[in-house]
Amino acid sequence: MTGATMFSKIANLYKKLAKKDELITVENVNYRGEEPVVEGEELISIHGVNLSYSSKNGSIKALENISFNIYRGEFICVLGPSGCGKSTLLKILAGFIRPTAGTVKLSGTEITGIDWHRGVVFQHPPLYSWFSVRDNVAFGPWMRKIPKSIYRQQTDEFLRKVHLAEFADKKIYELSGGMKQRVSIARALINDPEILLMDEPFSALDALTREDMQNMTRDIWQDTGKTIFFITHDVEEALLLASRIIVLSHHPGRIIDDISVDFSLQMTEKNGGDIKFTPEFYKYREKLLRLVNS
Ligand SMILES: Nc1ncnc2c1ncn2[C@@H]1O[C@H](COP(=O)(O)OP(=O)(O)OP(=O)(O)O)[C@@H](O)[C@H]1O
Ligand SMILES: [Mg+2]
Repeated sequence: MTGATMFSKIANLYKKLAKKDELITVENVNYRGEEPVVEGEELISIHGVNLSYSSKNGSIKALENISFNIYRGEFICVLGPSGCGKSTLLKILAGFIRPTAGTVKLSGTEITGIDWHRGVVFQHPPLYSWFSVRDNVAFGPWMRKIPKSIYRQQTDEFLRKVHLAEFADKKIYELSGGMKQRVSIARALINDPEILLMDEPFSALDALTREDMQNMTRDIWQDTGKTIFFITHDVEEALLLASRIIVLSHHPGRIIDDISVDFSLQMTEKNGGDIKFTPEFYKYREKLLRLVNS
């Protein structure tokens, strides 16, 4: 038997075994559905979630058998190819849509609709163009009839956190894309959500603004201890922000990897710098790129 034939036989045998154990095999990565060990209190539990959209051409399965827990204080980035169901998963967590099967619970209570416990930041922030920056940020507390004396102070605090204090009286249409995204983040944070859900929030921004926004988001995460669930296409962005990265397969999305990483903490400890150029970063970047493109 030639070396090549023997290799192909072993590969086939391995594939059969993988199927039997429901082992998901993507090149060198074997994922057995195990979460990384995360310290902290369980905030959200997602169990056996499937989601199918019905359309006039039939049913489209967007997510298949998604199960994982989100622990308080984590920064989870979700990576995956276009159309794999990332936004669908975020919409389920936000309570915009209900899963076709499975359960999603926040602190033990099933998520059945939208509420202030989950703040959402979209790629294109739906802001009120003719309102000032301050009034957009204060919108949530105003809706909840919190006294103005309280929310005025909170608004100033969050405007400072997103470096917009001096633009408080500007109208939204006078802002750049990055500034609008800052308003959107402050508007979500002011409600003191249990989790911040962010759907590719920086993908429409230029590279420099994007880096600036990533640094600000990392600082907010570390200052406030908020739990963040962040969707991105960008492997480097995920590595520079996350404490944990979940990778979804091609449509319908299944989890094909779930890893803990600490580049984000290293960025803070070492004040940015050369993390991106270390062999360790390069190794993770290659592995994730291979997974996302597989
Ligand atoms: N409202 C809907 N009705 C029918 N099908 C939908 C609906 N929303 C999404 N889909 C389908 O579900 C699948 C997952 O879509 P989703 O938007 O969650 O993907 P995604 O990973 O966020 O993609 P992208 O990276 O391009 O934003 C796609 O095949 C999409 O066409
Ligand atoms: Mg999407």
